[in-house]
Amino acid sequence: MSILQESLELLIEPLLQSKTAVLIADENRDVLEVNHAWEELIGISRENIIGQNTRLLKTEYTNPSIYCGLLESIENFIPWQSVVIDFNKRTKTPVPICLSIFSYRNQTTGRSIYIATSTPIESLDVLFSLNIDASKTLESRLVMLMTKIAEWGDPVIEKHIENVYQNSRWIAQLAAKANLIEAEQIEDLALASTLHDIGKIQVAKQILFKPDKLTPGEHAHMREHAPTGSELIDWVYKQISPLFSYRTKMFKLASEAARSHHEWWNGKGYPDGLAGENIPIAARITALADVIDALQSERPYKKSWSLQDIKKYIIERSATQFDPQLVGLVRDYWESAPFYVST
Ligand SMILES: [Fe+2]
Ligand SMILES: [Fe+2]
Repeated sequence: MSILQESLELLIEPLLQSKTAVLIADENRDVLEVNHAWEELIGISRENIIGQNTRLLKTEYTNPSIYCGLLESIENFIPWQSVVIDFNKRTKTPVPICLSIFSYRNQTTGRSIYIATSTPIESLDVLFSLNIDASKTLESRLVMLMTKIAEWGDPVIEKHIENVYQNSRWIAQLAAKANLIEAEQIEDLALASTLHDIGKIQVAKQILFKPDKLTPGEHAHMREHAPTGSELIDWVYKQISPLFSYRTKMFKLASEAARSHHEWWNGKGYPDGLAGENIPIAARITALADVIDALQSERPYKKSWSLQDIKKYIIERSATQFDPQLVGLVRDYWESAPFYVST
């Protein structure tokens, strides 16, 4: 063993003892070792990360292009360094860090290891949160614009979007408390739900705003708004995803909500006839949030329903139209609803 190899191996132990966060992975990038500083920085215990692939540590907060040169460099034994945004799993906060990776091949065994050191960059915190806020605002405005264009001409569309957002947020909060979804999905689900009817952009206005009953042909045309909406969202996402790496999940949820918000729990909805939990949760939440506001609002062809009648309507359709677990939560916490509080 050369003096250099010996020294490198000797270095690893003190490196692991140091206050710098250190992760060591094998040539398949499976984690071999982390030190205490790393456990603290990323909020994952040593037992839970050893043997896992480092791919799992990539975050949506870091622009994917940053990782591009990483693999090529380390496979060629060229040290790689960049600023990336990690995520602390325990505190659920993004952590900007300076990540340095170098690889080392043991000449005797021919095997390689990768050593990654992470140094938190405190001063980037402020800059980073500003970026996130700006990106969030832009994204919400974009979503609002898309929805408004789709239902242009409906005088109450803005109010409807706002109410669907509030209702979905409330139902998602209840679902998170009941462990049906992760708490971090609440905001994405709420925003995603507002795009559910975006496919109405391809429905002729005379059908969309027809005061009388639709003919079967018109009805079939109207039903197309669900798959069209989902396609449209997927397309928009493809266009903007190279620019935004943040909240990509929102677009996936929005696409699911748009396609499946007319599915019924018993499988009798459209467009795919999905049943039960095969209906994405975003669509199940949206369906409830949307119907509550539709019944509550006054339209030229209908009066506003009383909250009591809306509640009865939803409960009667539990396990036929709507997810029974969500209906149970809505029923039990009815008086904490945003529409209840504001009336
Ligand atoms: Fe719809
Ligand atoms: Fe709606």
